[in-house]
Amino acid sequence: MTKQTERIFTCPWWLLFTFDNPLRKLVHDPLKILSPFVKPGDTVLDVGCGMGYFSLGLAKLVGEKGKVIAADLQPQMLAGLSKRAKSAGLESRIQPQLSQLDRIGVNEPVDFVLAFWMVHEVRRRREFLQEVHGLVKPGGKFLIVEPIIHVTAADFERTIALSREIGFTTGNSPRVAASRAVCFQKPTLG
Ligand SMILES: C[S@@+](CC[C@H](N)C(=O)[O-])C[C@H]1O[C@@H](n2cnc3c(N)ncnc32)[C@H](O)[C@@H]1O
Repeated sequence: MTKQTERIFTCPWWLLFTFDNPLRKLVHDPLKILSPFVKPGDTVLDVGCGMGYFSLGLAKLVGEKGKVIAADLQPQMLAGLSKRAKSAGLESRIQPQLSQLDRIGVNEPVDFVLAFWMVHEVRRRREFLQEVHGLVKPGGKFLIVEPIIHVTAADFERTIALSREIGFTTGNSPRVAASRAVCFQKPTLG
């Protein structure tokens, strides 16, 4: 069995602006990164959404009939997300979810899950990945993107191995600046 990694660092809301700022679009274009994985009408989860940099892009991709569940541990992050969603006119497509340290807390099946620069902050990684696996519909996708600066190749490989152990299969992965990325699929039934 893969050794479970214990992590306690959570990116505080006031530190988010160091990378979630107007210059970010130059390196992380949400539509470019996410459009291969999301289609109109999808229900998607942005877990560890922060102030919703990617939730807004997801809301554009799922369209009027889709839904984005944006989950985070920190109420300040969700407050920032709601403010941004309102000024972009996208609040009707985005449902904020306050998570607990060891429970995302979402109860409906989703077509796609994004975990952008957050898995390395998760304390109980196996349980987290199991919860995500339980939420993704058969045939659905799960994209993990981790910052190169905090996550070694070996640590990233451990997350990949754990995800496979839990039942995800590996699909195509996008190239994302300053990051390691992998996209998993949940096999269809039968
Ligand atoms: C480095 S920030 C990235 C935010 C966002 N994904 C982005 O790329 O702008 C990591 C976020 O994950 C959240 N987080 C960490 N552990 C979490 C958990 N177990 N469940 C939900 N959110 C979590 C933190 O509160 C923080 O907002």
